[in-house]
Amino acid sequence: MTRPSLTERLAANSAERARAGLLRRLRTIEHADGAWVRSGGRRLLSFCSNDYLGLAQHPSLVDALKRAADDDGVGSGSAHLICGHRAAHAALEEALAEWTGRERALLFSTGYMANLGVMQALLNRDDVCVQDKLNHACLLDGAQLAGCELKRYPHADVEGAARQLRARPDAAALLATDGVFSMDGDIAPLGELAALCQRESATFMVDDAHGLGVLGAQGEGSVSAAGLLQDDVPVLMATLGKALGCSGAFVAGSAALIDGLVQSARTYIYTTAMPPALAAATLAAVRLAQSEAWRREKLQALIARFRTGAAQLGLPLMPSPTAIQPLLLGDAQAALAASQALEQQGFLVTAIRPPTVPQGKARLRITLSAAHEESDVDRLLEALSGLRAGGPV
Ligand SMILES: Cc1ncc(COP(=O)(O)O)c(C=O)c1O
Repeated sequence: MTRPSLTERLAANSAERARAGLLRRLRTIEHADGAWVRSGGRRLLSFCSNDYLGLAQHPSLVDALKRAADDDGVGSGSAHLICGHRAAHAALEEALAEWTGRERALLFSTGYMANLGVMQALLNRDDVCVQDKLNHACLLDGAQLAGCELKRYPHADVEGAARQLRARPDAAALLATDGVFSMDGDIAPLGELAALCQRESATFMVDDAHGLGVLGAQGEGSVSAAGLLQDDVPVLMATLGKALGCSGAFVAGSAALIDGLVQSARTYIYTTAMPPALAAATLAAVRLAQSEAWRREKLQALIARFRTGAAQLGLPLMPSPTAIQPLLLGDAQAALAASQALEQQGFLVTAIRPPTVPQGKARLRITLSAAHEESDVDRLLEALSGLRAGGPV
């Protein structure tokens, strides 16, 4: 037999990653308490979670989850279209639609599934999907799964996006971008991209996983902060596992879009609905994110403090106004060494290496949260300045 072994090939791939110093390692967090975690028996101050508003352990969320579980149990029991769609899901969808200024919203179990489902439902083989080169992996995977032509443009390059659209003038087209880029923290040129989509009759989709809760006067996200409405961005997707501190995702838009997704999005139809207690907890998180503006204000103050301090130290900051404040180190080994050195000093900051980011663009993906205090940021800056003197940064 000459048939290759799939498991041996997988093992060879892993060995190759190890040789290149790119092995991914799983870490168990034994306990989380605000921005602090315990791992390997050590207490570490985390600067790598996406819990931007510090809601993941808020007593209102925990209470809502417990009460709903007492009332209604844990699992939803089935897919939404069978008998899994509960009152808690419906209430959350209504609140999310209202918050984002859309007619309707539809829950998905994860952001990854939402993006796969939207693209598979909207796009056919003859269509084109135009995407920023730095879009999240699940947007890229979604277009590939849909079987359409995927055309990528240089990061945030509106003219590049225009060229890609014009190359296929007769094809139905979706232009998709992260609202806030997950590894860089910068905000897409949403107004210009929306205008381009209008001119080119393309449908505009924004994945606002890292903007919802953080940007906009009431946390409505990057699209609203850019002054754009449903007609400008007909397909809005965001996740519930980041600033809202829960898990899951939603797509918001016109009633026609949502009805169409219910009919056709396979990752909505053929999967178990999220636990209703999680939907109840998420609704509590939405209410807090809307009403407690101090969380966004505190986060902004911490971002400003970090950027000022890092600039004074001459650290390789990236042009990000959001909670994601990466330090670009370039070399994967340097990023890993910096992460390990920080851990020695009691900080958890993950190194992000290729292929998650492009070759030569390894970084420390530092994230800030309303759960941090000014003194936490100062301590991190002090540790980074020590590293700088010692080499890796
Ligand atoms: C921009 C973006 N979209 C989608 C996702 C996927 O969301 P989820 O974690 O809910 O699958 C992520 C990260 O997780 C993300 O950063």
